Amino acid sequence: MLLDSQISCHLFLMAFWIFSLFFFLFYSKCCGELITNLPGLPGNVSFKQYSGYIVTDAGHGRALFYYFVEADSADPLSLPLTLWLNGGPGCSSLGFGAFMENGPFQPGQSGVLVRNEYSWNLASNMLYVESPIGVGFSYSNTSSDYILWNDTTTAEDNLQFLVNWLEEFPKYKDSEFFITGESYAGHYIPQLAALILQHNKQPGIKPINLKSIALGNPLLDLDISVLAGDYLWAHGAISDETLMLEKTVCNDSKFLHEYVHSGWSQGCNDVFNQVGDEIGVDVPTDDLLQPICLSQSSAVQFRPKGKHGQIHAKVAKRGSIGDPCLEDRIFAYLNKPEVQKALHANTTHLPFHWAFCEGPLVYQEENWEINIIPLIADLIKDGIPVWLYSGDQDSKIPLTQTRIIANNLAKDLKLSTFEKYGNWYDKKQVGGWSRSFGSLTNGKNVTYLTFATVRGAAHEVPFTSPSQALTLFRSFLSATPLPRPQD
Ligand SMILES: *[C@@H]1O[C@H](CO)[C@@H](O)[C@H](O)[C@H]1NC(C)=O
Ligand SMILES: *[C@@H]1O[C@H](CO)[C@@H](O)[C@H](O)[C@H]1NC(C)=O
Ligand SMILES: *[C@@H]1O[C@H](CO)[C@@H](O)[C@H](O)[C@H]1NC(C)=O
Ligand SMILES: *[C@@H]1O[C@H](CO)[C@@H](O)[C@H](O)[C@H]1NC(C)=O
Ligand SMILES: *[C@@H]1O[C@H](CO)[C@@H](O)[C@H](O)[C@H]1NC(C)=O
Ligand SMILES: *[C@@H]1O[C@H](CO)[C@@H](O)[C@H](O)[C@H]1NC(C)=O
Repeated sequence: MLLDSQISCHLFLMAFWIFSLFFFLFYSKCCGELITNLPGLPGNVSFKQYSGYIVTDAGHGRALFYYFVEADSADPLSLPLTLWLNGGPGCSSLGFGAFMENGPFQPGQSGVLVRNEYSWNLASNMLYVESPIGVGFSYSNTSSDYILWNDTTTAEDNLQFLVNWLEEFPKYKDSEFFITGESYAGHYIPQLAALILQHNKQPGIKPINLKSIALGNPLLDLDISVLAGDYLWAHGAISDETLMLEKTVCNDSKFLHEYVHSGWSQGCNDVFNQVGDEIGVDVPTDDLLQPICLSQSSAVQFRPKGKHGQIHAKVAKRGSIGDPCLEDRIFAYLNKPEVQKALHANTTHLPFHWAFCEGPLVYQEENWEINIIPLIADLIKDGIPVWLYSGDQDSKIPLTQTRIIANNLAKDLKLSTFEKYGNWYDKKQVGGWSRSFGSLTNGKNVTYLTFATVRGAAHEVPFTSPSQALTLFRSFLSATPLPRPQD
């Protein structure tokens, strides 16, 4: 009897072991790593979430961390696949994009996750990736990678990520594919899109079904995108005298060119100290309407560090209209060991904590000066429609500058106006203003360029204007004009 029970126990263990092995092979190799017990998750979530690492370079030991949220739909495969990228360079798409802007949950009080009723997974399967290495949970085992990183290597790694991710989630290979994001992703996204088109030309591969890209408050041209003097002056945030200094001594473009190269001249330093003093420390430059978080802040992640200290200090001064303390909660949440375990993150025990922007990455800052406008023109010529949208309370990349770029692009590409400048609607309220341009292609009017402002929105549009942002996202995905008053 004793022997029998021992044998059956062995058999049972063996069966269990084989089952576990298959279970492991099936789930970890084939279809990504399912999230099963995320702390604070509400009980009635009907869509699947996955997260983990995708190796982009086995030789160097490079791996990018992703969070994938299936569409909140009975048939997720009937909806498209969208990749979201935050900028920086060096900021996390998990912390900003997923948990602060347009993902399904946001950390609430006492560790619970609160549903975002305007989550973009109502309209699409959403893929967030922490890119490049050195951002959030993404890493390289080769330390020299961290100091040689730039736009080229980011785009190449992002393509490799995508190709490998689709191998792990093969059912999405046929999906219509969209890319969107904001700020420095104005570099990342067009550069990745161009590589995808190149990749698709290779013989014998399954093309990635790239449909369109959308860039929110994007850095496209350092000589245009960042000029904020007039914008700040018109909002009463700087004085007449300071505006005059920006016009005669040093403007934002010069300031950043100097920063990238030799460091600041006395003139630029003086002007921008004055700009900073007048705006004041309690108004973030990425949202002039935003209040500050008044509770005890745990924002140690924003201690300026390394070569990017200045910019990160600026990036750090953000919050939200509804809840300016959300960032602190996200920071605390993503640094909890049990959350990291549930997300299959930090499996190699990284020697630094998770942070929104600051990390071990030293990016080649000369790349800020790359003009992305010609690349966007090429994408449009290759038939990829582009949306440029702009939160109208952002003074980092003000709407006035993105509008100049959109108008110039339309003119250079000889596109005609399809939707004349006018307001668009969300829930019977004006969501912002927009204009679209296109041309006759194969006997059909095709919209190739859409410019849209989002009323009351920050640099991070979905964060402060979630309902408007979802409406905009739906129009983008369906390639239809934003709702106009008569609709
Ligand atoms: C899920 O449950 C919460 C709390 O029980 C409830 O407030 C919410 O409406 C539910 N959501 C859905 C989609 O059923
Ligand atoms: C990085 O190194 C760790 C420790 O050796 C290893 O476990 C991990 O798999 C490596 N990562 C990659 C992407 O090769
Ligand atoms: C990025 O770095 C790589 C390798 O160091 C180099 O070949 C490439 O030209 C750089 N790209 C840019 C845009 O600076
Ligand atoms: C910004 O400053 C640079 C350098 O002084 C100058 O060439 C450029 O025209 C200025 N831009 C504007 C819009 O004033
Ligand atoms: C990873 O885990 C280690 C502990 O094993 C912790 O010290 C570190 O802060 C974590 N890093 C990240 C990026 O979460
Ligand atoms: C395309 O749009 C223009 C107006 O912008 C219109 O005159 C023309 O009829 C349209 N052509 C087609 C084929 O719809």
